[in-house]
Amino acid sequence: MRHVPMLAALLLAPWLAVAGAQERMPAPVHRVASPDGSLEVSVTTDGEGRASYAVARRGLPLLAPSRLGMLFVDAPKLERHLAIEAPRYRSHDATWEQPWGERRYVRDSYNELVLTLAETAGPKRRFDVVFRVFDDGVGFRYAFPRQDALPTLRISEELTEFNVATPAIAWWIPAGEWNREEYLYHRTPVEEVGDAQTPITLRTGDGTHLVIHEAALVDYAGMNLTRVDGRRLKAQLTPGTDGAKVVRDAPMDTPWRTILVGDDASDLVESSLILNLNAPNALGDVSWVKPMKYVGIWWQLHLDRLTWATGPRHGATTARTRRMIDFAAGHGFGGVLVEGWNIGWDGDWFGNGQDFSFTRATPDFDLPALAAYARARGVMLVGHHETSGHAAHYESQLDDALDLYAQLGVGAVKTGYVADAGQAKVLGAGGRLRYAWHEGQAMVRHHQLVVDAAAARRITVNPHEPVKDTGLRRTYPNLLTREGARGMEYNAWGEPGNPPGHEATLAYTRLLAGPMDFTPGIFDMRTRGGGRMATTLAKQLALYVVIHSPLQMAADLPEHYEARPRAFQFIKDVPVDWSDTRGVAGEVGEYAVIARRDRAGDDWYVGGVGDGVARDVTVPLGFLDQGRRYIARIHRDGPRAGWRDDQHDLVIEDREVGADDALSLRIAPGGGFAIRLQPR
Ligand code: NOJ
Ligand code: CA
Repeated sequence: MRHVPMLAALLLAPWLAVAGAQERMPAPVHRVASPDGSLEVSVTTDGEGRASYAVARRGLPLLAPSRLGMLFVDAPKLERHLAIEAPRYRSHDATWEQPWGERRYVRDSYNELVLTLAETAGPKRRFDVVFRVFDDGVGFRYAFPRQDALPTLRISEELTEFNVATPAIAWWIPAGEWNREEYLYHRTPVEEVGDAQTPITLRTGDGTHLVIHEAALVDYAGMNLTRVDGRRLKAQLTPGTDGAKVVRDAPMDTPWRTILVGDDASDLVESSLILNLNAPNALGDVSWVKPMKYVGIWWQLHLDRLTWATGPRHGATTARTRRMIDFAAGHGFGGVLVEGWNIGWDGDWFGNGQDFSFTRATPDFDLPALAAYARARGVMLVGHHETSGHAAHYESQLDDALDLYAQLGVGAVKTGYVADAGQAKVLGAGGRLRYAWHEGQAMVRHHQLVVDAAAARRITVNPHEPVKDTGLRRTYPNLLTREGARGMEYNAWGEPGNPPGHEATLAYTRLLAGPMDFTPGIFDMRTRGGGRMATTLAKQLALYVVIHSPLQMAADLPEHYEARPRAFQFIKDVPVDWSDTRGVAGEVGEYAVIARRDRAGDDWYVGGVGDGVARDVTVPLGFLDQGRRYIARIHRDGPRAGWRDDQHDLVIEDREVGADDALSLRIAPGGGFAIRLQPR
C-alpha cells in the first residue's frame, strides 16, 4: 500500500480506506457493572477493529483484554474491522424455584449489556455479544441474527480468549485425551496449563478464585481451553465429524462463556450463575421427576466378582435382582440399578456397541416380572443402557427401548458411552457412520435427543461418559445427574485408585458444573486386587453431603451395610434434595466442608472431606436458625482412623449446639466427617 497512490487505493478497495479512517479514531469503551458494583466488564475495539472484553473486580484486573471472534471453514474470519454499535443496557432481578436441587429458591440478579459488532469492511456481517454481570461472575455469549451475508455458520474455531490478569494456580484436567473426563486434576501455575477442559479453577495471589466454564451447551461443540502464551487461555472447540466444529443456521446463540468469581473456594459452592444462564424449565409439570437414593447390581461387577456377561458369574439374574429389590424396600431406597440385564455384553463389549439390544433381556433375567415386583414393593428398577459410545445404534432403538421402560414403570435410565475419546459413533453427512468426540456437536445433539425422548415418557436420565454439565437440568429437570469425572469405580479397580484429596478437588472443580453420580458409600474399602482405597468410613458418609446428586447411590453390597448398621443409618437418613447449600470452609484439593438443608424439613447436614494429611478443621454453625438449639449427630474419624491405618475407626456422638457455636473436628488422612443437625 505504501507505493500505491491514495487515489488508486480508493478505486481499488474503497472500503479499506474508509475502514482505516474509522479505526484510527479511539474507540469508545462500553462498561457494565454487577448489581453490587464489585465486578465490571469493559468492551472495546482496537486500532484494527478487533473487539475485546476485560473483567475487573473491586477495581483490580481479573481478566486483561481478551479477544472475541470466530473462524469459519467457508468464510473469512470474523475478528477484524468490527465497530461496536448500539449498546443496550438492561437489569434483571427475579427469584425462581427449582423443582429439586441444591437450593430451592434461586436469585437471578444481573446487569446486562448487549453490543452489536458490525463489520465495517468485507462481507459486512454482524453479531451481538451479550454480557450478563452478576455479583459472583460474568456470562457472555455470541448471538447471530439471520442475515444474507452469513445464513449458516460453519465454525472452525471460536476466538474467545480468557486472558488471566495476574499470576494464579490452576486446577485442570487435560482435554483431547483418550480417557475423556476421567483424569486426576493437575495443580500448576496458569503458565503451565496445556489444553484443559472446563470447569478450570484458578486461585490468584490474593486468594480470589475464578472458574472458567460454560452454560447452556445446546447444539454446539463443548469448549476446551488452550494456553496460547503467558496466562492467555483461548477457546478450543471440540472437533466435529465433517470438517466444521459447529454447523448452525442463523439465527443462533452460542453457549454462555462463564467466569465465576469468589473470595475463597467456599464462595464458589454457593453460586447459581450456571443455572441462571440456562433457560427455564421447558417440560412443564415435572412432579414425576423424583430425586432418590438407589442401590444396585453394580459394585460386584467392578470388583470382578460378578460379570455383565452371561455365564456362571452373571450378575443380573432374576433371583439376585429380587433380593436386591427386597434390600432396597427394607431400607427405604427408591431404586435398584441392574447392569448387564440385556443382550450384548458377551465378548468384548467395550467398543462393540452395535451388539447391544436395548429391548431384549438375557434368558436369566425376567424383566417384566422384576419390574412388577419392584413396583409392588414400592421400588423402581433403574434401567441401564450402555451404548459403548455407539450413539447411532442406540438412536435406532431409542423409541422402542424407552417405550418398553415406560410400559414397565422403569422411570429412570442410566446411559453409558464407554469408548475412547473420539471413538463415539454417530451418523454424519449422508447418513454415513462417523467417529465422534464425546463433547462434539453431534454428541451434544444425541444427548438432547435422549433427554427429550425420555421426558416425553416421564423418564429421568443419568448419563455416564457424558457431555459435561452446563446447567441444562434447569431446562430439562429430568436430566437428574451424570458422571463426567473419576468416580468411585476407580477405587474398585484400584492401583491407582482415586487419591485422598480427589473429592476435595472435585468439590471446587467438576462439581461446580452440576450434580455427579459419583456412587459413594463403600464400607468394605478393599480394591479388586485386595489393596486399600484411600478413604475412611467417615469419609464415605461425608460424600453424601459434599457431592450433590439427586440420584445418589449406596454403592456397596447389602452385607457390608448390614454389618455396620449405625453408619448405614446415616446413608438411609441423608436427603438427596435440599433447600439450601453453603460452602463452610475449604481449600481446593485440601479439604471441603459443605452444609445443606433438607428440602423436606429443618434439618441441616454437614459433610467434610480432607486429603492425605491429618487436619483439624473448625466448622462455624452460623447457617443454623438463630436462637434454636440443635442436636448434632457427628460421624467422625476416631483416634486410630486413617486410610493406611484403621479405616473403620468411626466415632458417632451427639452434641447440643446453636448458630453461635463452632465445631472443632479432626479429619484423619483420607478421612472426613458427616453431621446431621436436628432442631430439638
Ligand atoms: C462406566 C460407568 O461409569 C459405570 O458406572 C458402568 O458400570 C460401566 N461403564 C458399564 O456400563
Ligand atoms: Ca465411567
